[in-house]
Amino acid sequence: MSMNMNMKFEPKIMAFVCQWCTYTGADLAGTSRMQYSPYVKIIKLPCTGRIDVQFIVKAFEEGADGVIVSGCHPGDCHYTSGNYYARRRFEMFHELMSFVGVDMRRIQFAWVSAAEGRKWAELVNEVSKRVEELGPFNVFHALREQANELNP
Ligand code: FES
Repeated sequence: MSMNMNMKFEPKIMAFVCQWCTYTGADLAGTSRMQYSPYVKIIKLPCTGRIDVQFIVKAFEEGADGVIVSGCHPGDCHYTSGNYYARRRFEMFHELMSFVGVDMRRIQFAWVSAAEGRKWAELVNEVSKRVEELGPFNVFHALREQANELNP
C-alpha cells in the first residue's frame, strides 16, 4: 500500500450518538458493509438530550473539522423528551457559535434510528463531503489561542 501520495485533506469528524438508536444504526451500516467515510469517530452517549455544548466545543478544540450529533427520533427517546431538549439547546448553540464565528456548516444535528443504517451512511458521507470542501478548521484553534492570551 502506498502512502498518502496525493496529500488529500482527510476531515476529522466526531459524531456524538445516542446508544439506543444511532449507535445501533451505525453498527448496522458497518455489518451491512455500507460504504461510508472512514473519517468519523463515534462517541456513544446515553442520550443526546444529555449533550452539553461543551462536548462540541471540546471536539473542535481537539482538532475535529466537523461534528455530528445524532439521536433517537422525536418520541422515541428513552428519557421522555430528552431529544427535544437537545434540539432546543442546539438552537442556542447555533447562536453562540455564530457569535464567535464558527461556520455552522461544520455541525450537523440529525435523527437516525437503529434500523436506519443507510441513513447513517448517507449522513456521514454528506457531512464528510461538506467538511472536506470547507477544508481544515484552523480558525477555531486561532480563536482559542487568542482567548488563552487574554485569560492566561
Ligand atoms: Fe436516544 Fe434520548 S435516548 S436521544
